[in-house]
Amino acid sequence: MSNTNPKFDTFKIGGEIEVNRLGFGAMRLTGDGIWGEPTDREEAIRTLKRLPELGVNFIDTADSYGPDVSEQLIREALYPYGDMLIATKAGLARTGPDQWTPLGRPEYLIQQANTSRRRLGVEQIGLWQLHRIDPTTPRDEQFGAIRRLLDSNVIRHAGLSEVSVADIKAASKVFKVATVQNRYNLADRSSEDVLDYCTEHQIGFIPWYPLSAGNLTRPGSPLDTVAKRHGATPGQIALAWLLKRSPVMLPIPGTSKVSHLEQNMGAHRIDLSDDEFTMLDTKTKAWE
Ligand SMILES: NC(=O)c1ccc[n+]([C@@H]2O[C@H](COP(=O)([O-])OP(=O)(O)OC[C@H]3O[C@@H](n4cnc5c(N)ncnc54)[C@H](OP(=O)(O)O)[C@@H]3O)[C@@H](O)[C@H]2O)c1
Repeated sequence: MSNTNPKFDTFKIGGEIEVNRLGFGAMRLTGDGIWGEPTDREEAIRTLKRLPELGVNFIDTADSYGPDVSEQLIREALYPYGDMLIATKAGLARTGPDQWTPLGRPEYLIQQANTSRRRLGVEQIGLWQLHRIDPTTPRDEQFGAIRRLLDSNVIRHAGLSEVSVADIKAASKVFKVATVQNRYNLADRSSEDVLDYCTEHQIGFIPWYPLSAGNLTRPGSPLDTVAKRHGATPGQIALAWLLKRSPVMLPIPGTSKVSHLEQNMGAHRIDLSDDEFTMLDTKTKAWE
């Protein structure tokens, strides 16, 4: 399987599905509290349709975004997907807006992977991620469900989210961990050890909140000087920094607007110098 676009750096998920490293997070397409239909549905559809035109071929979504709404919008706007990889997740129950409850019972995970497959209209999900390890269900039972999903070809590759190095090592005894999705950005480096482990083991690292939920797009930070030098925006510099941090880094900035998407995707053209990278690293570490 290959999704190559010569303009982008690429990464092979599971050593096999080649994606452009700057992807798209589809959580922000839904309503307030990541609940229900978007306020501006037409703009959400336009944003999704713009993705392939900009060379984006890696989308991150989840059954819980909406719930269901994000996957449904993706299908409406982009099916058939051609060479795009639509990665999804399950493992969080939604009991209302802004409410996220880990739910990792094996039968639930298997049900949700199958219903995502139906919503997205695919035979097999290219990358399916366990959204959270549920602390009320034995970890190995959740990993066992993933093994079953892989063995029954419902999913091609599997990943984890919000995990420690110890979790990755334990999961790797049951299935090959293709990706890890943890919160990581210039202002939050608490997953540095996990990122280093992923880099060493060629596991794709998908940083969520790559723009710190939009905070890094605003002026008034050390990003400004570097942004001015490159004729760029602070948000683009934050994404360029992530791309330079590790070759396994797959940022998925989220937006509901075409103009923001276009701006964010401009980050892949920015080549930070080693000095700029180090300066940003040092100055923003002080925020933590
Ligand atoms: N695994 C997990 O537990 C987990 C948790 C959270 C998120 N995620 C995934 O990670 C993805 C990224 O995270 P995120 O979307 O929450 O955070 P983010 O990418 O750091 O920031 C998104 C926010 O920034 C704003 N924004 C984006 N581009 C902008 C621009 N160029 N100028 C100004 N504002 C801009 C967006 O608002 P507008 O819509 O107005 O552009 C949105 O509110 C999600 O979409 C989701 O797929 C995973």
